[in-house]
Amino acid sequence: MRGIILSGGSGTRLRPLTKITSKQLLPIYHRPMIYYPLNTLVKAGIKEILIIVSPERAGDYLNLLGSGKDFGVKFTYEIQDKPEGLAQAFIIGSNFIDNEDVAMILGDNIFEDDFSEEIKNFRGGAKIFAKEVPDPERFGVVKFDEQKRAEKIVEKPKEYLSNYAVTGMYIYDKRVVEVAKNLKPSDRGELEITDLNNWYLNHGELEVAMVQGEWLDAGTFDSLLRAQQIAKEKLADKMVI
Ligand code: G1P
Repeated sequence: MRGIILSGGSGTRLRPLTKITSKQLLPIYHRPMIYYPLNTLVKAGIKEILIIVSPERAGDYLNLLGSGKDFGVKFTYEIQDKPEGLAQAFIIGSNFIDNEDVAMILGDNIFEDDFSEEIKNFRGGAKIFAKEVPDPERFGVVKFDEQKRAEKIVEKPKEYLSNYAVTGMYIYDKRVVEVAKNLKPSDRGELEITDLNNWYLNHGELEVAMVQGEWLDAGTFDSLLRAQQIAKEKLADKMVI
């Protein structure tokens, strides 16, 4: 299994904090933010990790993280020229993925869960992870039918569907590259990971698991503050990096 950390974007919602640095390099308690998703992949046993960054900040990432040797893994870097969607990561990363399964985590997503078993036991298709939240309109949202099977996923729904947000950890088989290449940009001009997930769902090959522990997308001032507290109280002493 290969790993990708998508750490692009311009962090507009966090200006002026992100005027001179990348959102995913901001401090969360005792580490730069990206250490948390990196820790999640390293802990899950992934050894080859592609880090996708924006061109303006590429040098900072290289200075901070280097080759990966310090973490016992190997890093590859790629540039996302413009924030044109999460699913674009699989096109940018197609050579790196090289017909293997791939787990992608977003550079601003902080998880308490350990995904080792999920990654070890992955046998194809796609697997995503949902979490009950009070503010689902900020996220991709899963609608379940009466048998609790995923029925559809909608990106930032305007009408209420459920409280289950799709978190920023995704596992796919090698077909993900071809599926991503065939996606059309959404109204906001992005290749949506939600469209990718719906492709697997419509083929009967999407599994939705629940996140048990804490989860945060640290992309707003309030979630950034909350992330600091959770990092100190629950995550810092369990980190391997
Ligand atoms: C992205 C995805 C969304 C997902 C979220 C998780 O949203 O598009 O489906 O729920 O990450 O953090 P964004 O943070 O790009 O608004």
